[in-house]
Amino acid sequence: MKIRTYFITESYKEEESTEDSIFIYIDVLRASTTVCAALYAGAKEIIPVATMDKAIAIHQNLSKETSILAGERNGNKPLGFVLGNSPGEFLAQSVKDKTIVLTTTNGTNAFQKAKSAKHRIIASFVNLNIVVSNILKIAEEENSKYCNIICSGNNSRFSFEDSLCAGAIIDKVANAIDSVNFDDASLVSREMYNTYKEHLSHFIKTCEHAKVLIDLGFEKDIDDAVSIDKYPVLPTISGNSIKLSAVNLLEGNNK
Ligand code: MLT
Repeated sequence: MKIRTYFITESYKEEESTEDSIFIYIDVLRASTTVCAALYAGAKEIIPVATMDKAIAIHQNLSKETSILAGERNGNKPLGFVLGNSPGEFLAQSVKDKTIVLTTTNGTNAFQKAKSAKHRIIASFVNLNIVVSNILKIAEEENSKYCNIICSGNNSRFSFEDSLCAGAIIDKVANAIDSVNFDDASLVSREMYNTYKEHLSHFIKTCEHAKVLIDLGFEKDIDDAVSIDKYPVLPTISGNSIKLSAVNLLEGNNK
């Protein structure tokens, strides 16, 4: 299997074949982390939407009893939204059994890529090991040719924290199977992870977007986002909806 890493969403071209491929989507700060937190707290599903207008329109057609409009622009909860994009806001008392319509600046856009692929998994540090074990399982069962890791980046620019998370996944997959090779972006991501892994929290707090979040008062969100396996769920995308994967349910890893 070859692992290919896309440092920004836009570098993944839709014309690339999705056959024989596993797709991994990363937005450590904060959309991937929030998706994991919401599903861990018992949300029924998350509908990721790229634009605010579309998110509002989708939410208008859903029952207000069973759905929640959530997300951020410029880091903050938009006016009229019930929840923002802080993982800690997604607690069972507000999200259990609910459909969450989520729109964020970069992450929910990245989640739209490679819609025809069979295996589409949302990853972050908070679900690192269940993601890795499922990549290994799929790769073994289906002899997958590629594992494509799409980092959401920051407004079409490189994000350190996303590539560090890609590097963590790559390192663990490569340590588990011999027959894996990498593109250059994967190689660099793995090197970066191995350089910084003992001080993840410290280095991630020096990243561009982390500094913005800290200035906005969201430092706790970064602490949550770097907590390895804090929300050990396997969110998979099918059609327009992110749900807990059946594999995850079978393994009894959901709350
Ligand atoms: C994004 O999608 O760009 C992020 O999740 C932004 C954030 O809420 O920090």
